[in-house]
Amino acid sequence: MGYKIVVAGATGNVGREMLNILAEREFPVDEIAVLASRRSLGTEVSFGERTLKTQDLDTFDFTGWDMALFAIGSDATKIYAPKAAKAGCVVIDNSSLYRYDPDVPLVVPEVNADAVLGYAKKNIIANPNCSTAQMVVALKPLHDRARIKRVVVSTYQSVSGAGKEGMDELWDQTKAVYNPTDDKPAKKFTKQIAFNVIPHIDVFLEDGQTKEEWKMVAETKKILDTKIKVTATCVRVPVFVGHAEAINIEFEDHLDEAEARDILRESPGIMVIDKREDGGYVTPIECVGDYATFISRIRQDPTIDNGINLWCVSDNLRKGAALNAVQIAEVLGQRVLKKG
Ligand SMILES: NC(=O)c1ccc[n+]([C@@H]2O[C@H](COP(=O)([O-])OP(=O)(O)OC[C@H]3O[C@@H](n4cnc5c(N)ncnc54)[C@H](OP(=O)(O)O)[C@@H]3O)[C@@H](O)[C@H]2O)c1
Repeated sequence: MGYKIVVAGATGNVGREMLNILAEREFPVDEIAVLASRRSLGTEVSFGERTLKTQDLDTFDFTGWDMALFAIGSDATKIYAPKAAKAGCVVIDNSSLYRYDPDVPLVVPEVNADAVLGYAKKNIIANPNCSTAQMVVALKPLHDRARIKRVVVSTYQSVSGAGKEGMDELWDQTKAVYNPTDDKPAKKFTKQIAFNVIPHIDVFLEDGQTKEEWKMVAETKKILDTKIKVTATCVRVPVFVGHAEAINIEFEDHLDEAEARDILRESPGIMVIDKREDGGYVTPIECVGDYATFISRIRQDPTIDNGINLWCVSDNLRKGAALNAVQIAEVLGQRVLKKG
């Protein structure tokens, strides 16, 4: 016997990846419903060999469904997640709406899988921001060995992190650069993204950091350890899929770069590609479609007592969203619902 699964936001970047990953990982699905807004009613999406037609989220009855994977943005989530949860369907949500709610677990299975057990207070489990997910996968095993004090991270985030509209804007502006009569002013992003980089993701907060930067701080504390200090600079780059991060880590105890490399090699969800030669590292384009968080450029930071620098790359639509949500569903199934 398998599960009755709902995918809400099935026409979006993350929703489509959820369907791919459920099929790839042979998640025990008995029945599946794919939902989107009314304007997409009847749109066809792929689930393995099958083609499914989307239904209207607004009129869907969640009664009798086991789990709903949500990827529809915070505004719509606010309306529909409580409705699903109240009907007894466990919501695994990709928006930021519930991430900081003390009654909702925020989970990256490689780091804090046990937290899933706290789902019952609201019948909701939150998925972190894409940049946080890959970073905490990399930090966790190093923290277990040498206790992290402080992290300084700079991100290089692809446009798919801003949904379908973000990808379209990069595509259209790139074409327009070669055809100057076809002007494509910035709409989704705040400045031209084609052939440019933008040090601004999500809104500005009073202290000058952006909400995206704040999310990396708050979420790392909630998932990994409240004592870790994090400071972030989040930058949008003209890449379609795959987020990269340059991470500087300061530890309480000494950690040699060779030991750090060995620890990371043995850790779940991580692939180390770290040769000190031309091309001996991973770039975003190479991680697309993969499950792993790739780590390269592991090296001592000689400017502090116990410091390591590394380069971390992952598919933001997968580990940063859809894969992580499916992994949470797997943990919930194995440990709680036990149907598969
Ligand atoms: N992309 C990432 O890297 C990433 C990472 C982590 C978390 N997330 C989060 O995941 C969510 C989805 O992101 P995305 O990149 O997949 O966005 P997207 O490509 O723009 O897709 C949005 C999806 O939500 C649906 N939707 C929007 N408003 C709706 C409404 N009122 N009722 C029903 N369906 C509605 C859309 O349906 P229609 O096609 O019918 O409009 C579409 O299926 C967001 O909360 C985002 O913050 C994204």
